[in-house]
Amino acid sequence: MLTLTTTHQTTHACRQSPRPLGLVPTMGALHEGHLALVRRARRENAALAVSIFVNPAQFGPQEDLAQYPRDLERDLDLLRAEGVDLVFVPAPEEVYPPGFDTWVEPGELATRLEGAVRPGHFRGVATVVAKLFNIISPDRAYFGQKDGQQVAVIRRLTADLNLGPEVVVAPTVRDADGLALSSRNAYLTAAQRAAAPVIYRALRRAEELRRAGVQDAGQLRQAARALLEGEPLIEAIDYVSVADTDTLEELDDVPGRAMVSVAARIGRVRLIDNVMLE
Ligand code: PAJ
Repeated sequence: MLTLTTTHQTTHACRQSPRPLGLVPTMGALHEGHLALVRRARRENAALAVSIFVNPAQFGPQEDLAQYPRDLERDLDLLRAEGVDLVFVPAPEEVYPPGFDTWVEPGELATRLEGAVRPGHFRGVATVVAKLFNIISPDRAYFGQKDGQQVAVIRRLTADLNLGPEVVVAPTVRDADGLALSSRNAYLTAAQRAAAPVIYRALRRAEELRRAGVQDAGQLRQAARALLEGEPLIEAIDYVSVADTDTLEELDDVPGRAMVSVAARIGRVRLIDNVMLE
């Protein structure tokens, strides 16, 4: 496994790579959710690159950039065991050198949901993903449904800027009690961890109601919200959304596909999750 820190070396190595070349972009602190993407990408491509970069541009000034979990040696061991060919681990100055002044600004899609609570977040995501696509030139890039709005933003970005890679989306990996795996789960106390599965239960409640024939989006939101409000350790609900899967505009009724998503805070930990209504 090649571990490279410069964009120059990485581009050079990827140009010589067997094709198709898959890419799994990550911020490290790898868990089974990341590894599911890695395994799928490994199966579907002749060569596989993974990036590990805690992207400062997608964290707000009050967010957890400094505390974000980092364990590079463990991550590299896990990736080696999965048969990854190349890992790109740049320093922040390699990605954003002095004088860096060009950004990829997603449109309206990025102002909703996470974008409303985390201004600038998707500009940071879109910029780093566009750069990774340019540096590595993958044939396919793999993302998790766990970050549902990120998927919509990256699909839009890839189509709008003709970036090239096929965007492949893999299902959310969950713990046995339904909690979506996330690097941020490590911040939860035992009591908070025990309360956290209420988020998935709330999403499932909306899913069940829809399956039972309820098409009124307001009713679906209300049912999910009621479950969250019944859990005392949920300190704040940023949103409960039933939205169009591409534009993320809130729906009035749900005759077909929709994304139900929640962002809620347990203590100082902010958790997001979503399910797709088919
Ligand atoms: P990160 O949070 O490290 O996640 C990397 C990838 O793993 C993302 O595509 C994310 O959706 C996926 N993922 C995380 N938890 C998952 C789970 N429980 N099940 C399935 N997939 C899961 O997302 C980012 O990093 C960054 O924004 C990035 C795209 C790397 C740009 O900096």
